[in-house]
Amino acid sequence: MTASYPAKDDLLFALKWQMEMGIDCALSDTATGLYAAEAVRTPVRPATAAPQSLPPSRHSAISAAPPPMLAEPSFSPPIAEPVAVPPQTARPLSGLQTLSDLRAALEAFEGCALKKTASNLVFADGNPAADIMLIGEAPGRDEDRMGLPFVGAAGQLLDRMLKSVGMDRQDVYITNILPWRPPGNRTPTVEETRLLWPFLRRHIQLKAPKIIFALGGSSAKLLLDSQTGILKLRGQMTEIDFSDAGDGSLILPVLPSLHPAYLLRAPNMKKQAFSDLLQLCQHLKKAS
Ligand code: URA
Repeated sequence: MTASYPAKDDLLFALKWQMEMGIDCALSDTATGLYAAEAVRTPVRPATAAPQSLPPSRHSAISAAPPPMLAEPSFSPPIAEPVAVPPQTARPLSGLQTLSDLRAALEAFEGCALKKTASNLVFADGNPAADIMLIGEAPGRDEDRMGLPFVGAAGQLLDRMLKSVGMDRQDVYITNILPWRPPGNRTPTVEETRLLWPFLRRHIQLKAPKIIFALGGSSAKLLLDSQTGILKLRGQMTEIDFSDAGDGSLILPVLPSLHPAYLLRAPNMKKQAFSDLLQLCQHLKKAS
């Protein structure tokens, strides 16, 4: 049987459509679906199982709220459906004693499909001894390439924002709620966030900053276990218990603010972000 190949225009159209849908990386060397030279039909994977063990609430000392539900992505994720929670996440991460141990555990973790599409693990940047921990959403294309958070356009704005209050990257420690880039920079799914939450919580425990500056809605909603929009959450400091046992042994202030990528699109909101930064500085001054 001779394989019939699609016309060039059809292929270009399909490619353009995929780019518009946010698919900007190849997942496999072999084509599947309509445009495979010989139709290779991959069985549709059944809907993935819900995580067996949900992350304990961030508010455990304060309330027994259910795990967070992030805003739904603006379209159904075309790829990178998370696999069922592997046994590794059920294992307590409390045995990891250093940031390097945590990084190594993430490098070895095979339970998240995002890892397969990402080029690099994006663990952290800045000063591990800094008082401030900045937590963004997820790596974008530049971060994925370089393996460092906030190095693209949003990162450059972040650097300028820090400079405006006399700080630079050595005054902060920077990470994200997800260490791998979601394809096409789509919003992290609830499942991905839940799956990786134990790692982020251990990250916060090991870092034990004096304050967390949550950049953007995804980060603020996850850390505060809230459904409220970032425009309402920003600038309101909340104390959150990040201990495993929920015994109040690691209560840290979380100050949500606007994401630099949003500020690039809405520069008129920069004054609110600046006011949050000033509040951050004042808090640290009082605390020291
Ligand atoms: N946006 C984020 O939330 N994190 C990054 O590292 C880069 C862009």
